[in-house]
Amino acid sequence: MPELADVARAMVAPGRGILAADESTPTIKKRFDSVSAESTEDSRRAYREMLFTTEGAEQHISGVILFDETLRQSASDGTPFAKLLTARGMLPGIKVDKGAKDLPGAPGEKVTEGLDGLRERISEYVSLGAKFAKWRAVIDIADGIPSDYCIEANAHALARYAALCTEGGLVPIVEPEVMMDGAHDLARCHAVTERTLRAVFAQLYTQRVRLEEIVLKPNMVIPGKKCTARASVREVAEATLDCFRKTVPAQVPGIVFLSGGQSEEEATAHLNEMNKLGGSPWELSFSYGRALQASALKAWGGQASQLGAGQKAFLHRATCNGAARSGSYTPDQERAA
Ligand code: 13P
Repeated sequence: MPELADVARAMVAPGRGILAADESTPTIKKRFDSVSAESTEDSRRAYREMLFTTEGAEQHISGVILFDETLRQSASDGTPFAKLLTARGMLPGIKVDKGAKDLPGAPGEKVTEGLDGLRERISEYVSLGAKFAKWRAVIDIADGIPSDYCIEANAHALARYAALCTEGGLVPIVEPEVMMDGAHDLARCHAVTERTLRAVFAQLYTQRVRLEEIVLKPNMVIPGKKCTARASVREVAEATLDCFRKTVPAQVPGIVFLSGGQSEEEATAHLNEMNKLGGSPWELSFSYGRALQASALKAWGGQASQLGAGQKAFLHRATCNGAARSGSYTPDQERAA
């Protein structure tokens, strides 16, 4: 059995990143609705099989985060997905949180649930072939929020989860997501992300989590979607790196960004710029959901006849993001598609 630190390093290996395909059943239904595809157990299975069997994607994808249902499913030839991914050189991972619920006494704020029974669930997921896990905390920015209470409650739960994962044999992806909904500017996102990361690393320390055994999955530092003062690619890259240099210990092997509602091309360009700037102690990689899947989902549209088109679109995004890992992505790569 490889050490957890080796698994963590493999997850952030140069040139590769993570596919987040762990949408819960209600979330994937929303995504399927947007392209008029029906969401059934088998259509979800067929869609994910399309992604996991894309020839060549494994060169750019080190691991895939799965939802509980998918980890228990198999490809059309009967091979369980975890086995198929492993055979193709991609590590299978599992979302273990139970979603963000209203935080009592804190209107408009959320706390992620799922700690009860987690030790037992981790042990089952290990037996099903999972090598890493994910837990997402949600921090919203609006007037007067986030509160310290919300940040602390989420940081505490993230560290509890991470400690249970390393005890049970999974590398925890620690995901505190400061949301990009809202009208806040770049500086506000920087301040809230900094506060959040300080709290998360303080809790990881208190709860005795070894930082070389985790992977951090944060938001980029970026203006809210409704903010009129837009930031350039360079400004986002510089603000993000500045925030992490202040808060993320160098022992953490890698930072894998979420895309959080950025367009596919924006998410790739921002990652590319950070790697171009260089000088970071951690690998800077991706763990995109929408920014790896949006075009593929649209090209597929629920049609079995369009599986090839979906795979072509997915391979293109995986290739562009693979290039962004070394700062060698150029917009020409988009036109070449
Ligand atoms: P997005 O890249 O679509 O934000 O999804 C990543 C993810 O796993 C969120 O938890």
